[in-house]
Amino acid sequence: MFLGVDVGTGGTRAVVVDRTGRVVASEAAEHRAIHSSHVGWAEQDPEDWWRAAQAAIGSVMTQVGDVEAVGLTGQMHGCVMLDGDGQVLRPALIWCDQRTQPECDWLEATIGREKLIELVSNPALPNFTLTKLLWVKEHQPHIFARIRHVLCPKDFVRLRLTGEYAMDMQEASGTLLLDVSHRRWSTEVAEAAGIPLAWLPKLAEGPEICARISSAGAEATGIKAGTPVVAGAGDQGAGAVGMGVLQPGMVSATIGTSGVVFAATAEPTLDKLGRLHTFCHAAPGVWHVMGVTNGAGLSLRWLRDTFTPGLSYNEMTAEAAEVAPGSDGLIWTPYLFGERTPHLDAQARAAFVGITASTTRGHFVRAVMEGVAFSLRDTFTLFDDLKIPVTEIRLGGGGARGALWRQIQADVYGRPVERLEAEEGGAFGAALLAGTGVAAWPDVAAACASTIRVAEVIEPRHATQMDAAYREYRKVYPALRAIGRQ
Ligand code: XUL
Repeated sequence: MFLGVDVGTGGTRAVVVDRTGRVVASEAAEHRAIHSSHVGWAEQDPEDWWRAAQAAIGSVMTQVGDVEAVGLTGQMHGCVMLDGDGQVLRPALIWCDQRTQPECDWLEATIGREKLIELVSNPALPNFTLTKLLWVKEHQPHIFARIRHVLCPKDFVRLRLTGEYAMDMQEASGTLLLDVSHRRWSTEVAEAAGIPLAWLPKLAEGPEICARISSAGAEATGIKAGTPVVAGAGDQGAGAVGMGVLQPGMVSATIGTSGVVFAATAEPTLDKLGRLHTFCHAAPGVWHVMGVTNGAGLSLRWLRDTFTPGLSYNEMTAEAAEVAPGSDGLIWTPYLFGERTPHLDAQARAAFVGITASTTRGHFVRAVMEGVAFSLRDTFTLFDDLKIPVTEIRLGGGGARGALWRQIQADVYGRPVERLEAEEGGAFGAALLAGTGVAAWPDVAAACASTIRVAEVIEPRHATQMDAAYREYRKVYPALRAIGRQ
């Protein structure tokens, strides 16, 4: 049995999986809410992730007794700053923190945008780790001076479990410090940014054993000391492994807090305009591209918390199901946290357009679900432009769990979409990487083949109508772009 641990944004989840892909135990523990002292800022305390990880892992370990290997995954890009003793110097700036546009501009002016994309395969975006480090350098030099190690969220949990500073290639791709094509740290970018290479952890491929549970880690969690820990992957990489998205042509569309359309590629595929992320995949010798919508599942949650507290998602979607596809012209652009793909605009703002006196609550819910799917379709449009093949689409996250959102996605993408038998997210993929690391399967593809099965194929039913609605949606951002800019 293999343990996968997902250090997410809302909480940490521990999942134990056996060799057939059966989930034997699964537990989660919530994190404290994201701390945001200014609009667009988002911080979390790494020690709070460790507290939640101990709770979730501790409780699955009491159920199963022993595991053969551990794999880690988690929210990507967060910047954890540590001193020489591995103590946290300040709360982590996490993936959705939007404060670092000036640092992005500085980096692109210093290195050159095209050169930066050539070196690390991606442009500077506020989500990426390096820009957060540069913000601390500029605004909190007393903290910057004490930094000796930089990690991403799940790698901090690894440090507490094993005492090792390590990171996998897929996660490292989202720091803006990795030479993605050659799968090694980019000395050139680190030097230009003034970041000592010695602060960066050792790199390993996703299924590679890079550490072992220490006696302190064992005492805190109940995992036996000496148990191998593989490098794992960021939540998107591990999630794709858990959905069997490894070969070119395979694509996943995942609606969690953020929304991601992810395609595996045999080599690094660059969008010269930087609208897609080009990262190493969690399996050696494989890369991926992905487009990211910052506020996907978050849009529905925001709608519920703000306007219909107390209503369950099932009740909300039942009202939405009464409304015809296209929401009678009501359109939602989901830019609650600015937007990455395709606009790369941290100042983009969300909007409802097309409200009339006949608009009901169900219209708002349906428009939000459709707007999120339109935003994911923007990535499919880019895949078409860049000739990235799409032969099979697998759904993940909250967007895969309800029949209405599944049908909306098939209609909006205009292609059949697949629901998997067990869609367990990143923790499941991390467990498969762990099993591969101890040779339960010869490689990651074999792990996927023995554990992942398609349960249902959903055919599009309203593709023509939703295609027309998508064309209307595409007009909203350019029309509103100039309004309310500072
Ligand atoms: C991926 C991304 C999010 C976070 C949070 O680039 O920013 O998916 O990993 O889940």
